[in-house]
Amino acid sequence: MNRFDGKVAFITGAAAGIGRATAIRLGSEGASLYLVDVAVEGLEETAKLCGAGGAEVEAAFCDITSEDEVHGAIQACVGRFGRLDTLCNIAGILLLDHFDKITPDQFRRVLEVNLVGAFMLSQAAMPHLLKSKGSIVNTSSTSALAGMPYGAAYGTSKGGVSALTRTLAVEFGKQGVRCNAVNPGSIKTAMMGGDRLPKNVDGQLLMRVMSIGPPRGPEVVAATIAMLASEDGIHINGEEIRVDGGTLA
Ligand SMILES: NC(=O)c1ccc[n+]([C@@H]2O[C@H](COP(=O)([O-])OP(=O)(O)OC[C@H]3O[C@@H](n4cnc5c(N)ncnc54)[C@H](O)[C@@H]3O)[C@@H](O)[C@H]2O)c1
Repeated sequence: MNRFDGKVAFITGAAAGIGRATAIRLGSEGASLYLVDVAVEGLEETAKLCGAGGAEVEAAFCDITSEDEVHGAIQACVGRFGRLDTLCNIAGILLLDHFDKITPDQFRRVLEVNLVGAFMLSQAAMPHLLKSKGSIVNTSSTSALAGMPYGAAYGTSKGGVSALTRTLAVEFGKQGVRCNAVNPGSIKTAMMGGDRLPKNVDGQLLMRVMSIGPPRGPEVVAATIAMLASEDGIHINGEEIRVDGGTLA
């Protein structure tokens, strides 16, 4: 018996990284998958990988900053599979820059994708999660728990994700819907690749957020998301779990 047999998972950011790894993990444990992203090529590749593993998969373009697209995608998921048990809010963007260089438009954009997107998806999914007594797993970050230099926009957005997680946990817990989050750190994905740092950074400040262990792949986060979304996490609600190799221990 697989943990997600008969269950339906809706996963954002499924074209790459932690979203793709989560799709593969939940699919391998029996979930039917509705996968969304703006990166269509990567999304199709994820769908192929999950399908090859035996999962029932539907993949669709959805920009999570569009209210219409978000509601349309949730409706399409329920139309296709008849139910929704797990919403995994994983899509996100990273912006690192000196505080005085970040423009208000950049700041708003990071909040739109990372925070407003998770809010709209949770709102659209909630009626269906109330029916299935399902759960939400959000992707916060270590930057929500400790100051991340050059991450004023990103850290603020993730602090909001953590607060949203706790709010939904208490507002809907009595009705059987759980809401939890993971706080990844130093996970090897495209987001962490390349040179994302601005010029003239203070190396000593950066040491605050340097991993103390070896960097790991996105599957370690996917495993934690799967636990939180499954029956194994049935008494966990409003919790955040760091998956950062001990960086903030
Ligand atoms: N990699 C890490 O170390 C790390 C650490 C902390 C938190 N996170 C969080 O984990 C999540 C996944 O990140 P990742 O490392 O897998 O990065 P990634 O860049 O590989 O994946 C992010 C995905 O989100 C998608 N996306 C971006 N904007 C979107 C939009 N408007 N609508 C729909 N999809 C959109 C991208 O196309 C991409 O496929 C993010 O929320 C990120 O903030 C990652």
